[in-house]
Amino acid sequence: MKPTIIIAVGTRPEAIKCAPLIKLLERDERFTVCVCVTGQHGTMLEQVLQVFDIRPHYHLGLMRPAQTLASLTSAILEAMIPVLEKEHSPNAPTVLIVQGDTTTAFVSALAAFYKQGIVIAHLEAGLRTFDKSAPFPEEMNRQLIGRVADLHFAPTRQAKANLLQENVAEERIFITGNTAIDALQLVVQNLNALSPDERKTKINLPASMYALLEEHRLSEKSAKKVILVTGHRRENFGDGFQQICLALQQLSDVEGVEIIYPVHLNPNVQKPVYELLSNRPNVHLLEPLDYLSFAYLLQASTLVITDSGGIQEEAPSLGKPVLVMREVTERPEAVEAGTSLLVGANAERIVAAATRLLSDEAEFARIAKIHNPFGDGTAARQVVEILATKFCP
Ligand code: UD1
Ligand code: UDP
Repeated sequence: MKPTIIIAVGTRPEAIKCAPLIKLLERDERFTVCVCVTGQHGTMLEQVLQVFDIRPHYHLGLMRPAQTLASLTSAILEAMIPVLEKEHSPNAPTVLIVQGDTTTAFVSALAAFYKQGIVIAHLEAGLRTFDKSAPFPEEMNRQLIGRVADLHFAPTRQAKANLLQENVAEERIFITGNTAIDALQLVVQNLNALSPDERKTKINLPASMYALLEEHRLSEKSAKKVILVTGHRRENFGDGFQQICLALQQLSDVEGVEIIYPVHLNPNVQKPVYELLSNRPNVHLLEPLDYLSFAYLLQASTLVITDSGGIQEEAPSLGKPVLVMREVTERPEAVEAGTSLLVGANAERIVAAATRLLSDEAEFARIAKIHNPFGDGTAARQVVEILATKFCP
């Protein structure tokens, strides 16, 4: 019998980073593939499933408004066990793939550990800050997955070194690069293949903003500076978001600046952002964008300010400087290469770094380099071949 590969996905970034792998596995006759969506996210996840045309075998529909970590954790654990029971056959290997550091990833891995007999594979393994409060709870989720996983797909040499330091056996660790880069390459290829008319219809942005971005993208002499912002980290809730909004208010006073901010649907983000940043003509607050539209916006932007994990990987690969609104990052490779700067969720530091980048051409050129420490776009293919070597006789 063929090995069964179950891929558990719950949030937007997991869906994006698992998509290249799901697409390859679906076409590969050596495996039986089962995509299990916990629905930790709602519309933000559906947007990705649609862009990549992923049709889940299970959709557990678990998202609740303002869900707590505890309620989500117990709901996923309860709902995952029956899926694993149904899919796990004693006659062939069963592999559960989890991605990253979310509650879905951690709890699905835990469920497979409880079920026993299932190989647990971790995509994007070994990233560490070694500070369990940042990112919270993701650092601990990722460390705990590292304890129960049998196979560790590490994106970089640094990630592998972190796992070795935790006594993970070397033969269980594979450096593959990050599937984030595979996904970005796929979507950029799709964007580049669109005619101008198709692009206009497929990019879901308000018409006036689309026109502004096209002009900015196409004109070398554009006087506009497009700042793309995203943010959603739990450790930034409260004071951090007040600081972020204060910084964006100040940056909106800089000549020529347009701030484009697709706002995460978490109510802890929506409330301060809409309260503090609405009614500024050059601060554009948007609904979360589908991945195609977001990639277009990323390509068209001058500078990115974010606390996201995935965007720290994507922006350097498109040559966009990133100000990271965190004190520590589990993705130090871009900071070490000088294409990202850590600025915390601190208004003064955000404004100082952004204004310097926007006003000092030499500094901008130094940071805005295409840099690809996170992968070369072949990660999913490498993972599939490793799985085939191990599980396909
Ligand atoms: C989660 C992950 C985080 C990841 C982020 C990506 C955990 C603990 N957190 O954080 O690691 O970086 O996703 O975006 O796993 N909501 C909606 N619609 C959606 C999605 C969210 O309304 O499509 C709202 C709901 O009120 C939900 C809340 O956001 O209860 C929080 O969602 P949750 O997945 O618990 O946390 P995130 O902050 O999204
Ligand atoms: N993204 C998107 N639409 C948006 C904002 C982000 O498609 O409006 C993509 C982005 O390109 C990246 C991923 O979502 O691939 C990052 O998700 P998020 O920041 O929510 O999570 P994190 O990476 O921090 O876990």
